[in-house]
Amino acid sequence: MAASIPNLSERALESVFHPQTHLAQVHDTGLMMIDRAEGIYCYDNKGKQYIEGVAALWCTALGYGNEELAQTAYDQMKKLSFSSTFGGKSHESQVLLAEKLKQMLPIEDAHVFFGNSGSDANDTQVKLAWYYNNVTERPNKKKIIGRIKGYHGITLAAGSLTGTPAHHAGFDLPISNGRFLHTDTPHHYRLAEPGESESDYASRLAGNLEALILKEGPETIAAFIAEPIMGAGGVILPPETYFEKVQAVLKKYDVSFIDDEVICGFGRTGNAFGADTYNLSPDSISLAKALTSAYQPLSAVAVKNEVYEACVDASPEMGPFAHGYTYSGHPVACAVALKTLEIYERDNIFGHAAEMSDKFQKRLHALGDHPLVGEARGIGMIGAVELVSDKATKSMFPTLGKAGMQVAKACHENGLIVRNIGDTIGFCPPLIITSAQIDEMFDKFDKAMVSVLDWATREGLVNV
Ligand SMILES: Cc1ncc(COP(=O)(O)O)c(C=O)c1O
Repeated sequence: MAASIPNLSERALESVFHPQTHLAQVHDTGLMMIDRAEGIYCYDNKGKQYIEGVAALWCTALGYGNEELAQTAYDQMKKLSFSSTFGGKSHESQVLLAEKLKQMLPIEDAHVFFGNSGSDANDTQVKLAWYYNNVTERPNKKKIIGRIKGYHGITLAAGSLTGTPAHHAGFDLPISNGRFLHTDTPHHYRLAEPGESESDYASRLAGNLEALILKEGPETIAAFIAEPIMGAGGVILPPETYFEKVQAVLKKYDVSFIDDEVICGFGRTGNAFGADTYNLSPDSISLAKALTSAYQPLSAVAVKNEVYEACVDASPEMGPFAHGYTYSGHPVACAVALKTLEIYERDNIFGHAAEMSDKFQKRLHALGDHPLVGEARGIGMIGAVELVSDKATKSMFPTLGKAGMQVAKACHENGLIVRNIGDTIGFCPPLIITSAQIDEMFDKFDKAMVSVLDWATREGLVNV
């Protein structure tokens, strides 16, 4: 039991290289040692309970401690703990999972490639886009357009698709081969011109995208990648008509559309996929996180049959398709994913989430009245509040991230885990959350905001 190990936090700092962490700051603040979890709650090693208000990293849709998923993993481990899928081998659980995903996804006759993380899924997307255009004799069609504040992961190619400066700085990203471009963040509240309607703003952004494609040369642009809702970049919802107009531009210039559903997939936006919510017709889709409700690391890339067929046709000349991970199609991960999808369907989890979203969105949007909240935004079971120092002028706080950190800290004190992204606070609870638990979560948040308002007032940071 972790609780019985003394000084675990100090020992972690001595031995673990923590990811995505302010490495100097944690030496002062210490680490939060999560010990166990059940349902939507997790507990630190002092026994304090927290609501996991962001489903860990937007992923534990079925919450914690699910017996069926644990049993499925155990059974599969006993039957076939691992088998490589390289060089002509396959196994039942990856076949059944691919078949199930084919039924669910908005891509007709898809083929599904498995990996281990959202990042490697998007690396696969990049490599497939390049490979496909090579084997179909379009060797110049290689550039991929992401968006500023888009988040697609952290490996070299996925990190290059990502459009957040913090993930580039110091790592020499994006890869400087001229193939990674970024277009506008579609954030109406923050970036539209005064008086510009959502629809006019969307037209302007689609126009900017078209201008970028024309400047670079349409024959050089392979793909555009977008999350239906930008998650880690700040939970930014597309303005009205945005995707309709963007998709028309992509179609006009034969640019394929990669739909990154790593956060939005599996009921998060009130429908099975973000593509359903925003009427998207993607050419390929990336999945991870809620694919297994994070009980196992697993990602999937679904592509159109024509891409798969082009790779098949290229085989005589190219030889084996030389991309794949040791754990591609890991049998335990696939079995757990299959069971996760079965539970989603059997227990009507997406329907439950859609039903709960009324309460969730109501409580979220009520936060828009708080003096520190400039915008409360969300859809389905995802949302965020953007903190401002002055509601009327939408002014941000002088040191970006300080107020957000203060909110996260106050939430922790009140037994709630949220995600602070600069001064935006994200919510994305497990989809199994009940109506009473939604109230419990926002009651804790309201309490935290009382102390943060006190702090901001004391520091002279807020104009109320
Ligand atoms: C939309 C999106 N794509 C890709 C990724 C990368 O996934 P991973 O961290 O599993 O590599 C993330 C992670 O948060 C994500 O939100």
